[in-house]
Amino acid sequence: MKSLLIVFHSMTGGTAQMAEAAVRGAAAGQDVRVRLVRAVDATPGDVLDADAYVFATPENLAAMSGLMKDFFDRCYYAALDRIAGRAYAILVCAGTDGSNAVHQIERIATGWRLRAVADPIVVCTHADTPEAIAAPKVIAPDDLARCESLGATMAAGLVLGIY
Ligand SMILES: Cc1cc2nc3c(=O)[nH]c(=O)nc-3n(C[C@H](O)[C@H](O)[C@H](O)COP(=O)(O)O)c2cc1C
Repeated sequence: MKSLLIVFHSMTGGTAQMAEAAVRGAAAGQDVRVRLVRAVDATPGDVLDADAYVFATPENLAAMSGLMKDFFDRCYYAALDRIAGRAYAILVCAGTDGSNAVHQIERIATGWRLRAVADPIVVCTHADTPEAIAAPKVIAPDDLARCESLGATMAAGLVLGIY
C-alpha cells in the first residue's frame, strides 16, 4: 500500500487543523496509508518510508517555524538522493503573508528533487497583534475544504500510480 506522510508543526492550532483536514481528505475512501506526524517527532526513516509528502507549517518571522526547519535539518542529508521524484505539497498557516515559508520549503524540496503536485495552500489568520498571535486559531470551513481536497488529490494520485 502506498503511503502519504504529513509532517506538521503548529503553535496555536491553525496549521494542525489544516494538516488534519488533509488527512481526512486523503483517508476518505482511498487505499492509502496516511501518517500525520509532528515535525519534532518525524525521523529520516519516516521520510524514506513514505511515497509522498505534505509539509505543513506556520510562518514565523518570515520563515517556516523553527521546529519545521529542525525536521528538515535532521532529515535532509539522510534522505538526499533517496527520495527523488516523489510527490509533495505545502500547507502554510500565516498571519498576513506566508510566502517566504512556502519559498523556503520549495527550495528544500528542489534539493530533494521532489515533485510539486499541487499549488501551495496559504491560509491567513489575520493575526497581527500580540493578543491575536497568541490566541487559538479557527480555520474557516472553506479553507479546510481546500486542504481536504489537496489530501484527496494526493491520495488518488498515489492509488492511480500517477506518483
Ligand atoms: C513568533 C511569531 C512570528 C510570526 N511571524 C509571522 C510572519 O512573519 N508572517 C506572518 O504572516 N505571520 C506570522 N506570524 C503569525 C502566525 O503565522 C499565525 O499566528 C499562524 O496562525 C500560526 O499558525 P499556528 O496556529 O499553526 O501556530 C507569527 C507568529 C509568531 C508566534
